[in-house]
Amino acid sequence: MRSLGRRTFILGGLAAASTLTYAGTALAASPFPFKLGVASGDPAADSVVLWTRLAPTPLNADGQGGMGTADVTVEWQIAKTSTFGTLIASGTAIARYADAHSVHVVAGGLAADTDYYYRFRAQGHISAVGRTRTAPAAGSAGRDLVMAFASCSHYEAGYFNAYRRIAEDQPGLILHLGDYIYEGGVGSSGVRQHLGTEIVSLADYRRRYALYKTDPDLQAAHAAAAWLVVPDDHEVENNYANMVRNDSSPVLTAAQWTARRTAAYKAYYENMPLRPSQAPSGNAIPLYRRVRWGSLATFHMLDTRQFRDDQACGDGWKVCADADLPARSLTGTAQESWLLDGLGQHLGTWDILGQQVFFARQFDAAGASSMDAWDGYRASRARIQQGWVDRGVRNPLVLTGDVHKSWASNLKADYANPNSATIGTELVCTSITSNGNGSGSTTIPNGATNPHIKFYSDQRGYVRTTITPSQVRADFRSVASVTEHGAAVSTTRSFVIAEGQPGLQQI
Ligand SMILES: [Fe+2]
Repeated sequence: MRSLGRRTFILGGLAAASTLTYAGTALAASPFPFKLGVASGDPAADSVVLWTRLAPTPLNADGQGGMGTADVTVEWQIAKTSTFGTLIASGTAIARYADAHSVHVVAGGLAADTDYYYRFRAQGHISAVGRTRTAPAAGSAGRDLVMAFASCSHYEAGYFNAYRRIAEDQPGLILHLGDYIYEGGVGSSGVRQHLGTEIVSLADYRRRYALYKTDPDLQAAHAAAAWLVVPDDHEVENNYANMVRNDSSPVLTAAQWTARRTAAYKAYYENMPLRPSQAPSGNAIPLYRRVRWGSLATFHMLDTRQFRDDQACGDGWKVCADADLPARSLTGTAQESWLLDGLGQHLGTWDILGQQVFFARQFDAAGASSMDAWDGYRASRARIQQGWVDRGVRNPLVLTGDVHKSWASNLKADYANPNSATIGTELVCTSITSNGNGSGSTTIPNGATNPHIKFYSDQRGYVRTTITPSQVRADFRSVASVTEHGAAVSTTRSFVIAEGQPGLQQI
């Protein structure tokens, strides 16, 4: 496709989606290829990733979305207004057949702490417009940051009302902490249904992402702000630990499991607004990374699946002496060193760990706890907590997904001693939909044995944070329903974490 000028691109934006005329030539109508929406991600002070994937018929069983085998040129534009009156940057990228016709454009040369709008054009069609924002420059706090974080969006469990409400909050940044898709086959009791059996092949994973991404509420959340994403287990398979499977179904040989993990990581990269530096290489994907937000915050995005030791005592909720073994690690040694090194650099006021599984201790009265969470890797947790204490990290804040309930905890120097120092804070978002409509209970499970846990709520939703140099405000947002499309959202509880004073203050 030849390059088109800005003027014709703008005219195209006003034309009908199905046919576009430019330079006196009518293009043959082709099906709209932007049915999976647009996204941006991993902002820096001078660049951001722009993503789209061409798929005119997204649910085709071959995972190719109705595209042919040819690579396709995609044009992109960035402007300061949604009318694209003055372009700031533009260019072309190749949507390759080998990458399911996805593109990951690193749009550079941008101004720090600035809002931008972007869009794509391909095959005579113009995409929806997305909004994004660059990070503040190093040394600058920039504007206050409204950041929403979420996890666990099971398509069958309900409508993505929470994604729509996140979009309406117009955050400057969105974190997704895993379980963006679920791998299971079609269920019998869902509000809506997956397609086919449990996903295993690359075609399966590509089609599953396409199914999720046809959801208009999810598309709205992507179009509203840049995302920072890390996967958890269900982007591959439930509770896998490095190369150890937790499930016995479907039956897979070791080689088939390796191929499955390779396919899952490839499809994850293809469908997320990640930088090309996060592209997988075979059976591995380099996902843990730091994203700096000027002097205000540093996001340390962790990968707690790819390098972990197997769950102790056969996984599950257990009393398990092996969970205390000092050699056990949830991060692997390289990631642990990388994290502690980054924390020791004091790059921003708030050191925010974006990660997957429950961090604070949660024991029941018998001493049992979740072997899939940090409670199953206690020495690993202790090394990281002590590591940030030793390095004088003033404001560590752990963000968590996975458990489909809202929680908030003070992190303790010694969980067995309620009077020990509070050395950090954890906020756990509930699910977007997983587990369906909640009970509404706010009674803290195992509250008596874990006095450092301060909040619990069983409803679906997300957490909206407002990050400033002096405090982080956290609003636990709950949607009234996931079985009714368009249900309202409200704030169940709010907390403040004051700079230099780890721990929750209820407001
Ligand atoms: Fe989940």
